Amino acid sequence: MSNNQFGKQGWLPERIDNLSGKTYLITGANTGAGFEASKILLSKGAEVVMLNRSKERSTKAITNLKAQLGENIKVSYVIMDLSEFASVRNAAKEVNEKIPQIDALICNAAIAQIAKQEFTPDGFERNIGINHYGHFLLANLLFDKIEQSRGRIVVVASEGHKMGLKTIQFDDMNFDKNYHPNNTYCHSKLAQMMFAYELQNKIQKANKNTKVYVCHPGASKTSLIRDNSPLATRIVWSIMSAFPIVQSAEKGAYPEIMCATEENLKQRAYYGPTGVMNFSGPVGECKLEPFVVDKVIMEKLWTVSEEATGEKFEV
Ligand SMILES: NC(=O)c1ccc[n+]([C@@H]2O[C@H](COP(=O)([O-])OP(=O)(O)OC[C@H]3O[C@@H](n4cnc5c(N)ncnc54)[C@H](OP(=O)(O)O)[C@@H]3O)[C@@H](O)[C@H]2O)c1
Repeated sequence: MSNNQFGKQGWLPERIDNLSGKTYLITGANTGAGFEASKILLSKGAEVVMLNRSKERSTKAITNLKAQLGENIKVSYVIMDLSEFASVRNAAKEVNEKIPQIDALICNAAIAQIAKQEFTPDGFERNIGINHYGHFLLANLLFDKIEQSRGRIVVVASEGHKMGLKTIQFDDMNFDKNYHPNNTYCHSKLAQMMFAYELQNKIQKANKNTKVYVCHPGASKTSLIRDNSPLATRIVWSIMSAFPIVQSAEKGAYPEIMCATEENLKQRAYYGPTGVMNFSGPVGECKLEPFVVDKVIMEKLWTVSEEATGEKFEV
């Protein structure tokens, strides 16, 4: 008998009935897992607001979605570059003014495996700046609306959090001394997870209603590995992608859609594909390692993130 709560096949989008009247915000939805998540949510009648950094790529994605699903789908985009706090603030303002309800904010966008240390316009190393600080500020600025909506925040993490440092490098958040394309990415994904679990703590303490879920997409055929990744990483990834151990981008979207829509999920948990090395396979609960929920580190990271983004995050 399978110990997956959704049975042997794991969680599948067929479990979703009808999402009309629901609104989902997805960061980085013009391609990859975010695009596929948008497609499935829209196909179930939901409204999707994409938070993307490019007008051109957003328009292209929407044209593509309409060609596949019909002209009447409720999809729009708001321009947001997670690397610039000013852009995140503008996007959050626009969302707060225009969108009456947020059933889930899916923090999906990321950069990964950048060959050389690069900085955001605000002066942070790009992995931590985009993947963690950008989403931290966004979630902060949208929190009240999500709370009013009795909504959710979904953090798309990575199995990579188990690689690299396995803790937060507070004395060198920008990796000035030990920049490494993989370790620095993995560190930023761990930071995103720690943010999510600490947010749960704060929500519980404040007796609020927002639910926070954490998932990973396994190994999925998306555009995450790009021209600015080390050559060796690009070669290994293209070889791996030729084999079925790497799953489709669509399957990579299942965990985040599940976390945005499914009832009866555990919050202090970590969801994603459960097959060999968690690369693919039935979507269900994966092991949450104790170092991820180290209270002292999570609390310190919260303060460091407030300082970096220049904004207190009061729950
Ligand atoms: N694919 C995998 O095997 C894998 C494994 C583990 C975890 N993940 C996680 O899965 C999530 C989805 O990634 P993916 O694999 O679908 O990659 P992807 O195809 O590269 O999609 C990433 C998305 O993030 C957007 N993005 C990047 N930088 C941004 C910024 N500064 N501001 C706003 N948006 C930005 C990209 O926009 P542009 O198109 O404009 O660049 C794109 O829409 C990420 O959180 C990633 O860490 C993926």
